[in-house]
Amino acid sequence: MKNYKIAVIPGDGTGTEVINEGLKVLEAVAKKCAFKYETVTYDFGGDRYLRTKEVLPESAVDELKTFDTIYLGAIGHPDVKPGILEKGILLKLRFDLDQYINLRPVQLYDERFCPLKTKKPEDIDFVVVRENSEGLYKGMGEFKDKGTPNEIATQISHNTRKGVERCIRYAFEYTKKFGKKKRLTLCGKINVLTYAWDLWERTYYEVAKEYPEIETDYAHVDATTMWFVKNPEWFDVIVTDNMFGDIITDLGAMIQGGMGLAAGGNINPQGVSMFEPIGGSAPKYTGKNIINPLAAICSLAMLLQELGEEKAATMIENSAKTVVKTKLKSLAAGKMGYSTSEVGDLVVENLQPINEVLDAKI
Ligand code: IPM
Ligand code: MN
Repeated sequence: MKNYKIAVIPGDGTGTEVINEGLKVLEAVAKKCAFKYETVTYDFGGDRYLRTKEVLPESAVDELKTFDTIYLGAIGHPDVKPGILEKGILLKLRFDLDQYINLRPVQLYDERFCPLKTKKPEDIDFVVVRENSEGLYKGMGEFKDKGTPNEIATQISHNTRKGVERCIRYAFEYTKKFGKKKRLTLCGKINVLTYAWDLWERTYYEVAKEYPEIETDYAHVDATTMWFVKNPEWFDVIVTDNMFGDIITDLGAMIQGGMGLAAGGNINPQGVSMFEPIGGSAPKYTGKNIINPLAAICSLAMLLQELGEEKAATMIENSAKTVVKTKLKSLAAGKMGYSTSEVGDLVVENLQPINEVLDAKI
């Protein structure tokens, strides 16, 4: 029997509450799918930082490398200046563990929760492959004459051929394997950012030659946000850089019904990946048992998929869908008609027996 080693980082704010529901679902699904796991919980986050003045212990990255996967809640604390925890924990782990893909599915489960008037679940069902290790997030740049009237601040988007190519290759492979329309859209800004996007475009069309079965497609990032609202049904898989991916996936989260459902994974296909709901730590909802845990639960499904536990992943996704469709009044915190822990219980109750799952993919 497989035995997975899972590092758990609940993090800040509502992180703990949503991760607890995820772990509840994990326990149930492990029994049904006959695998074992061990968890080790780490207290990285704002409270630890305020207590110890240390953002992340020296040993953290090396220790995390010994796990099969990482399950993370949320990072961000109202008493800590913005940037410290995000850069010191979240981005540091993404970079140091070389999780160069940020995979973010956008799927509408129920049209009741879509802010777009005429769109149905079949219209909103795509995946964003966000480059996760380079671009503007690299943190390159400088101040000149800081604090003077002549101040200049430069922020560099750093794109390497190797970094761009591995991301684009992943996206083509992903489209080949999972794309429903076999269409991969490159989302960029070739008309203005003529260095970075020249490299991206050249690389994309070179790699595309190896995938004749995949339809190529390009959209400027500004137009992409327009299409998300007007014609989201066009999209299948989208590949883009770190900054654009960050922005368009928040819009993606909204059209699928909100942050309550938005799951994501920071993936190193050759190493240790880390799965997290894409919403933040939501301080104002913390400790009230009202936050929606489904984004964390769906992130757990992605985690299991990456570990190769495909049946378990499908069981969780199907159950989450059923709960959204048949139980919830809203996907928003405090308005679901159920508490955080009740939603976790509902997902457990609606897990279908393993042998029925593969025939009955909802
Ligand atoms: C995200 C978040 C992070 C990002 C922040 C918290 C650093 O917005 O995961 O999308 O910008 O990547
Ligand atoms: Mn973001």
